[in-house]
Amino acid sequence: MSALDSKIILVTGGTGSLGRGVLAELRGAGATLVSTAHRPTSAPEGVELEIIDLSDSGACVALVERVVARHGRIDGLVCLVGGFAGGAFIQTDHATWQELLDLNLHTGVNIIRAALPGMREHGYGRIITVGSRPAVDPAPNTSAYAAAKAAVIATTRSLGRELRGSGVVANCILPSTIDTPQNREAMPKADPSRWVKPEQIGRVIAFLCSDDAGIINGAAIPVYGDA
Ligand SMILES: NC(=O)c1ccc[n+]([C@@H]2O[C@H](COP(=O)([O-])OP(=O)(O)OC[C@H]3O[C@@H](n4cnc5c(N)ncnc54)[C@H](OP(=O)(O)O)[C@@H]3O)[C@@H](O)[C@H]2O)c1
Repeated sequence: MSALDSKIILVTGGTGSLGRGVLAELRGAGATLVSTAHRPTSAPEGVELEIIDLSDSGACVALVERVVARHGRIDGLVCLVGGFAGGAFIQTDHATWQELLDLNLHTGVNIIRAALPGMREHGYGRIITVGSRPAVDPAPNTSAYAAAKAAVIATTRSLGRELRGSGVVANCILPSTIDTPQNREAMPKADPSRWVKPEQIGRVIAFLCSDDAGIINGAAIPVYGDA
């Protein structure tokens, strides 16, 4: 028996660089998986794929309805969608601030708002969001990104407190630089052996999706590797 046997887990952004590693670990732990992608792409092995723009709150409600119609419930919601843009504060315009908030905060808020009523009704849920190290340890030239990720952390922690006693918990993981092909290309002089690997984060997320993680709520968990 694996830790996530019989668990229905919805992963947003599962086709991204982090997402593919996370899906593989969740699948290895026995979960039944539905993943979202934004652009049409092939489904990772053993995963049901839904193409959706998570900035559309109505589409998020419809997605949750489809998953519940197929599987009866959602036990775990892993919100991986997000993205980075850097730049000096003075050169970061309003549109960039808005884009980073929309991409990192509102995509997660939309899907959590859609899935939460069912989880509460069921008395069981594991919600995992993704912040980032600069949100708690800001680096120069990341003001809008760090602020958007700080908003993800604050939202998750507040939600966790709100959910006390409900059987639903919400936690946020904080990766440092992840070992992805994009980061290797962008930082050719860096030592990627120090970066955290997608599958390592996937194992932390798999634990946070398990029954045993019901005692962890409102946490912001660093997953920095050796960086
Ligand atoms: N990479 C790092 O070093 C790093 C470090 C710290 C934190 N993080 C965080 O970790 C998470 C995953 O990062 P990543 O590197 O895997 O990013 P990624 O490769 O760019 O993947 C992002 C995923 O989000 C999807 N997506 C983007 N906009 C969407 C929208 N509006 N609606 C639905 N789906 C959308 C993408 O779908 P398509 O591919 O179809 O567009 C893709 O599946 C993000 O929250 C990121 O901020 C990453």
